[in-house]
Amino acid sequence: MPTGQKVRLIRSPISVLGMVLTTVSATVFLVVFLADLFGLHTNPYLGILFFLILPTIFVAGLVLIPLGAWVERRRLARGEAPSAMHWPRIDLNEPLQRRRAVLVFTLTMANIVIVSLASYKGIEYMDSVEFCGQVCHSVMAPEYIAYQSGPHARVSCVQCHIGSGASWFAKSKLSGTRQLLAVSFHTYSRPIPSPVQNLRPARDTCEQCHWPGKFHGDTIRRIHEFAEDEKNTESVTTLQVHVGGGTDRPGGVQGIHWHVDPANEIEYISTDDRRQVIPWVRMKDRFGTVREFVAEGVTAEQLAKGERRRMDCMDCHNRPSHPMAATPERAVNQMMGQGEIPKTLPFVRREAVRLLKANYPSQEAAAEGISRGFREFFRTTYPEVYMSRRQDVERAVSGVAHIYRQNVFPEMNVQFGTYPNNVGHMDFPGCFRCHDDSHKSKDGKTIGQECDSCHSME
Ligand code: HEC
Ligand code: HEC
Ligand code: HEC
Ligand code: HEC
Ligand code: HEC
Repeated sequence: MPTGQKVRLIRSPISVLGMVLTTVSATVFLVVFLADLFGLHTNPYLGILFFLILPTIFVAGLVLIPLGAWVERRRLARGEAPSAMHWPRIDLNEPLQRRRAVLVFTLTMANIVIVSLASYKGIEYMDSVEFCGQVCHSVMAPEYIAYQSGPHARVSCVQCHIGSGASWFAKSKLSGTRQLLAVSFHTYSRPIPSPVQNLRPARDTCEQCHWPGKFHGDTIRRIHEFAEDEKNTESVTTLQVHVGGGTDRPGGVQGIHWHVDPANEIEYISTDDRRQVIPWVRMKDRFGTVREFVAEGVTAEQLAKGERRRMDCMDCHNRPSHPMAATPERAVNQMMGQGEIPKTLPFVRREAVRLLKANYPSQEAAAEGISRGFREFFRTTYPEVYMSRRQDVERAVSGVAHIYRQNVFPEMNVQFGTYPNNVGHMDFPGCFRCHDDSHKSKDGKTIGQECDSCHSME
């Protein structure tokens, strides 16, 4: 076929539409891509539009061009006249055309404004904490409720879970689609598994607000504990935790935040899917010293199957935004320490823990059971306390019901201690996953367990 005719073929209406689509989408895509490259991030959901929909339109346009040519060729083969695709002749000197042009232009502008406002609003909503936390209500309830009382209640879900950038964006969209299907078909796991695969590295999330160079020095933690006796006897432990930090200090980051000094590199292999068993650790420090610590009895085969990861903030702070109590005892101690549950009510500590440990089919049933249980206990065992201190009893009831609401979600199979917290070592292995004196290096060193290296205690 002569070239002239080929050109004719792709001048059919379908091919022209294809060309318009490819050209427009390619131009918009390039502009947005450059803006993104130069750090002009807008909003991750806007990315859906640009990085998923635009390429789709582009490809659709590409497909339309040969399709149009093919349709045109069939037309010619059938002996019909070539389709008469002419470029419109525009002459703004003609009043009718001028009026039409103005009308079309105004309507187009108005449409663009309406559509962008609408999609902006929609996107803003999808980005909001309400969308993430409430749309799939019972699924995300444990995380959403913990989040609201955590230190990051003003940080939106997407700032930690998605962040900006195209590739993470696409990853999170893919898993988002999977989640949506899981929710629609009720096939999601209860509880939702943690760690979250494909969570962005801390460098792109946490370190946008906190950085390892910040010097924290020592942090004081006061831990209140109460006994199960009538007086709820109180004991207090004061820990001075050597958090450290500060990259600009001579000798680099000191103390616990030594692990996240950018000059040091700690890698580990975990052999379970919750990252609780860590039989292999490799460190390279700022002086170039490299050491591999291996736990006794682990085989090369087990290690080969494990997940290898560079340690970052989330390997210790894995619950920065979703703090949940490890045990009922701990939650009650904390509330009593803060005075939210009156510590002068007889046996209140013992009763609170007993009521929290009972089995309830739902949160509503628990609230009722706790309230009834407390009132009954005081009415029958301490009638004079029940009469004279009704308000305190009510505070104890609401304090304990609150603990239950924050930590136990029967629908999601979430309980006290479902999600391990890696800061510490009392309730979960935490620091002692590595600091157990039994991970040994070839030169006979271990990852130490001296109490004072991490905290001093009173
Ligand atoms: C300060 C950062 C941060 C914010 C803000 C945040 N999360 Fe998380 N989220 C995390 C981390 C870290 C994990 C645990 C990841 C891991 O262990 O790999 C997590 C885990 C989860 C999980 C998995 C189940 C679990 O409990 O481990 C869900 C679901 C979740 N978050 C939902 C949300 C929702 C919904 C919001 C907003 C209401 C939110 N997150 C806000 C950091 C955050
Ligand atoms: C958008 C900013 C922002 C991001 C992102 C962020 N944080 Fe925070 N974080 C804060 C602020 C603000 C506070 C202080 C809250 C307060 O004092 O009540 C805080 C407090 C903390 C604390 C101290 C909590 C306490 O109980 O005193 C830890 C630990 C922490 N963040 C870890 C993390 C980790 C780990 C991540 C990443 C998963 C992260 N943060 C992501 C802003 C952020
Ligand atoms: C080896 C474990 C570990 C790693 C890794 C780690 N932290 Fe910490 N961090 C701690 C401990 C322990 C504390 C003090 C106790 C606590 O917060 O409960 C702490 C305290 C903090 C605090 C609160 C400081 C204060 O004065 O109360 C912030 C904020 C924080 N870390 C942020 C981060 C960030 C951001 C990263 C990653 C760059 C990080 N941490 C990495 C263990 C770690
Ligand atoms: C993935 C393994 C791993 C985990 C988990 C871990 N550490 Fe470490 N930690 C190490 C290694 C390796 C060293 C370096 C040991 C050496 O120097 O021989 C180290 C060193 C330290 C040091 C000494 C730092 C210095 O200034 O030299 C402190 C303090 C410390 N860790 C505290 C903690 C605390 C607190 C936790 C829990 C919140 C924790 N670590 C969790 C691997 C780990
Ligand atoms: C690798 C660092 C590390 C070592 C070694 C270590 N601890 Fe801790 N310990 C921690 C951290 C981190 C916490 C949690 C601090 C917090 O809650 O902020 C903690 C918490 C505690 C608590 C308070 C527990 C609670 O009820 O909350 C006690 C008690 C304690 N440690 C005792 C010890 C003793 C005794 C030793 C020595 C055998 C020791 N620790 C060794 C890091 C360490």
